Amino acid sequence: MKKVGNHNSISRKLLLGVTLMLAISFTSFAQDAAPAAATEAPAAAQGADPVKGKELFNSNCAACHKLDAKATGPALRGVAGRHDKAWLYKWIHNSSALIKSGDAAAVKIYEEYNKSVMTAFPQLSEGDIDNIIAYTSEEKAAAPAAVPGQAAAGTSNGDDSGVSNNIILGALALVMLMLVVMLFLVNSVLTKVAKANGIQVAPKTPTTPIWKAFAKNQFLVLVTAIFLLLASAYFVYGFLMQVGVDQNYEPIQPIHYSHKIHAGDNEINCKYCHSAARVSKNAGIPSLNVCMNCHKNISEVAETTATPEYSKAFYDEQIQKLYTAVGWDKATQSYTGKTQPVKWVRIHNLPDFVYFNHSQHVTVAGIECQTCHGPVETYEIQKQFAPLTMGWCINCHRKTEVKMEGNDYYTKIHEELSKKYGVDKLTAAQMGGLECGKCHY
Ligand code: HEC
Ligand code: HEC
Ligand code: HEC
Ligand code: HEC
Ligand code: HEC
Ligand code: HEC
Repeated sequence: MKKVGNHNSISRKLLLGVTLMLAISFTSFAQDAAPAAATEAPAAAQGADPVKGKELFNSNCAACHKLDAKATGPALRGVAGRHDKAWLYKWIHNSSALIKSGDAAAVKIYEEYNKSVMTAFPQLSEGDIDNIIAYTSEEKAAAPAAVPGQAAAGTSNGDDSGVSNNIILGALALVMLMLVVMLFLVNSVLTKVAKANGIQVAPKTPTTPIWKAFAKNQFLVLVTAIFLLLASAYFVYGFLMQVGVDQNYEPIQPIHYSHKIHAGDNEINCKYCHSAARVSKNAGIPSLNVCMNCHKNISEVAETTATPEYSKAFYDEQIQKLYTAVGWDKATQSYTGKTQPVKWVRIHNLPDFVYFNHSQHVTVAGIECQTCHGPVETYEIQKQFAPLTMGWCINCHRKTEVKMEGNDYYTKIHEELSKKYGVDKLTAAQMGGLECGKCHY
């Protein structure tokens, strides 16, 4: 009996040791975590919000900028590392003015991008720009929880805290594993010692298996059930929300028609072909006669148009398809009368219960095609740029100010509504752009 008591005291000491080690490893974890918390504090104080930044970026900048690739303008991820804040405010508020002032960095980037002019954004506040910068400073596919810290700390600091967190986690896992192994070893050593001393180790009392204990505990079962339900609801919701959303849909067309070559390289105005966009609900796809205005004379592309991906022969064959479709005989330069209509695959398609009108947005609101369709002049193959969800329409209506100048019809409404809302400028939303009936039949 006495020896058994001894055995117990040994295991108690061991237990104490283990607890001590755990305690130490936790305090060291806490110490590591402390500086990370400290770097996060100024972020909260500054209040730069990458989520708002993303919205602003998508509605104002995405037409010309991507985060990680060159588009019309440079890739913007980590731009805060290339310029200081004051420069960025000036640049984004009015880049032309900055270039005119002879700022070396501004002139350099302007030359580099073939002197394309970036839109001025005087309407963005410095807070808005901070948010956008916070968004562009996010790590690629960084965990959202880590974002605020990284945003403020800039790229390099953000890196560190991400790595050290991983190291801490790894170290903790290792410590745990070692503890488990040690416990097993200790247990087997003790049993051996006990056996050697001829002590009866008390046989294991049959314990109820964990799952049975779990099944008996109704509270635990309830909590788990609720958790599982919530989790599956989350995933089902996520799945349902992307049903019918065809962002980036990029079908193969019967004729490989390149917007890059036409609207980009040859600078043909969008409205030359999509002339209806200005005056009617639909932008429309041009009839092949419009193509023939030029293609009676252009039967092949220049040598320089070919790219590694698409050869000159490939492009020429596409123009030949156009000729076959309209029944144009290249040799005699006349129509044969035999036509085969081209069936373009429709890319954008709102559900029938939604009313969308191009002229309202293009002519009345003066919104560029690219805001909604992306940098079309760079698309070799046309695709759907925007998600075309209700949230997308609504977000823009909340943010976009209506152009009142030079529109008599609006002058009176403007006076009344701006009094009602106590603001100078009205957004499309305040003009009624959130009423269900405006968009739904
Ligand atoms: C109409 C196209 C267009 C839009 C819209 C646009 N940019 Fe630009 N941006 C450019 C071009 C082009 C350049 C390259 C310089 C030049 O040619 O003026 C540029 C350059 C920049 C630079 C300098 C980048 C560097 O690496 O030095 C920053 C920063 C920038 N843009 C931020 C923004 C932000 C923020 C927005 C949205 C609020 C925005 N841009 C919207 C076209 C655009
Ligand atoms: C020379 C004529 C021409 C010009 C110029 C042109 N387009 Fe197109 N566009 C077409 C044709 C043809 C199609 C159908 C084939 C396709 O989808 O690629 C089309 C398709 C589109 C679509 C997709 C339609 C759908 O099915 O949903 C969009 C959006 C579009 N154009 C926007 C633009 C914008 C924006 C510009 C100006 C930057 C432009 N287009 C300039 C001829 C033209
Ligand atoms: C305003 C003049 C103009 C109009 C209108 C026009 N094109 Fe073109 N097209 C061009 C030019 C210029 C080229 C390029 C020639 C070169 O690169 O040497 C070209 C090239 C092409 C090519 C070969 C490159 C490619 O995009 O695959 C095809 C196919 C083509 N056009 C089809 C069409 C179709 C279809 C239409 C009508 C929807 C159309 N074009 C309307 C001027 C025009
Ligand atoms: C406010 C956002 C917005 C702007 C600005 C805009 N579009 Fe669209 N566009 C859409 C939506 C939404 C659709 C889908 C319409 C549908 O399915 O009924 C669409 C569809 C199209 C189509 C497919 C054919 C059609 O009429 O449905 C073409 C082509 C097109 N747009 C060209 C243009 C051109 C060219 C411009 C600039 C002159 C332009 N869009 C400006 C949102 C926009
Ligand atoms: C890029 C911003 C933008 C997007 C995206 C956008 N709209 Fe608009 N929309 C506007 C603006 C700005 C006006 C106000 C035009 C005006 O009356 O001056 C407007 C007006 C309207 C109106 C008329 C509202 C009224 O008060 O009479 C309707 C209807 C409408 N939009 C539908 C849509 C639908 C449907 C979508 C999505 C498929 C959409 N819009 C996407 C900017 C946008
Ligand atoms: C600015 C335009 C606009 C306004 C205002 C608007 N909707 Fe929508 N709504 C849309 C568009 C676009 C879709 C299609 C979304 C899609 O296909 O994913 C849609 C889809 C829907 C759907 C179908 C469910 C879905 O997500 O596809 C319902 C229900 C709906 N709207 C209800 C409403 C109600 C209720 C209101 C008023 C509070 C309203 N909408 C106001 C543009 C609008």
